[in-house]
Amino acid sequence: MINHSSKIIVTGGLGFIGSHTVVELQSKGFEIVVVDDLSNSSIEVLDGIKKITKKNIVFENIDLKNHNLVEDFFNRHKDVDGVIHFAASKAVGESVKIPLEYYENNISSLVNVLKELQKLNKPINFIFSSSCTVYGQAERLPITEKESIKKAESPYGNTKQICEEIIIDTAKSNKNLNAISLRYFNPIGAHESAEIGELPLGVPQNLVPFITQAGAGIRSELTVFGNDYPTSDGTCIRDFIHVVDLAKAHIAALNRLLNKNHGSNYEFYNIGTGKGSSVLEVIKSFEKISKIKLNYKIGPRRIGDIISAYADTSKANNKLKWNSELSLDQAMKSAWKWQQKISK
Ligand code: WQD
Repeated sequence: MINHSSKIIVTGGLGFIGSHTVVELQSKGFEIVVVDDLSNSSIEVLDGIKKITKKNIVFENIDLKNHNLVEDFFNRHKDVDGVIHFAASKAVGESVKIPLEYYENNISSLVNVLKELQKLNKPINFIFSSSCTVYGQAERLPITEKESIKKAESPYGNTKQICEEIIIDTAKSNKNLNAISLRYFNPIGAHESAEIGELPLGVPQNLVPFITQAGAGIRSELTVFGNDYPTSDGTCIRDFIHVVDLAKAHIAALNRLLNKNHGSNYEFYNIGTGKGSSVLEVIKSFEKISKIKLNYKIGPRRIGDIISAYADTSKANNKLKWNSELSLDQAMKSAWKWQQKISK
């Protein structure tokens, strides 16, 4: 039986997916320590989490690139049972502009954490935040975990591939490490309470936060990056998964490890809804739930975009006993409610 007072360290726990996962972990009774360097998140997120869970959280502001700080942290948390590692820079476009910062941050943070976990000399459960970006443009749809890994289109995507390989090699050499990589498709939406949600810094690079900011009048017009793709309506297709469903997938993966139900000590799963939605379908969903006519124009294709990606989730359904439950409309409704809250 799972000992729900297990102590779980969540790195990047004040980020978009991290904060929603902390809420789900606390609601299941896990003891949580959140680590975040606040480089792409704000301390107010802690208050939002507490308003939802009504529980206190141990928070430490630590730069995981600094090995001495990481060593000191784990010396103070030797009783850790599991780590969910979200901490990473994650903007595709930015990674092209400043690749060295992305390689340094995303890779050294992971290496420092794994080195300190190894020193504990005890079984450690480790969940890694990966991305469907490792598949590039898949040859077959829906995308299964058997799909080949493509050469990354961005330094960001490359760091995800490199980090997965680092974990694989570490798990091979250290049987105390029980690891699962979760390859996210496109996370969107917000907690129903509108106490936490996505906080893009500057001009949103991702579709849904740009839509909700355009709906709120913060952005004058959305540009649809291309409508001449070989798809039903000419726009790209993605698997948009509600962030709360994604957060619950982390709990399912953690329970698999805590219950020792895992097969090998390294597994990986595609986490999506299994349904593809086009950019125009997302816009239509927003207009339906908000009753706002969205101001958008068709512009040129965005370099690096793939045509279509949506998950075959049967492996996660069967082995993690996890299914997405929330619809695109529910995700867009929650994203809009959150945008209206933070735009006040
Ligand atoms: C989705 C679709 C755009 C903005 C990226 C990363 C992935 C993950 C999620 C971090 C595309 C179109 C977008 C806009 C548009 N990131 N679009 N106008 O590129 O599928 O995935 O973000 O983990 O790893 O690769 O998401 O939301 O940027 O784009 O038309 O203003 O929306 O062209 O077709 P993407 P996205």
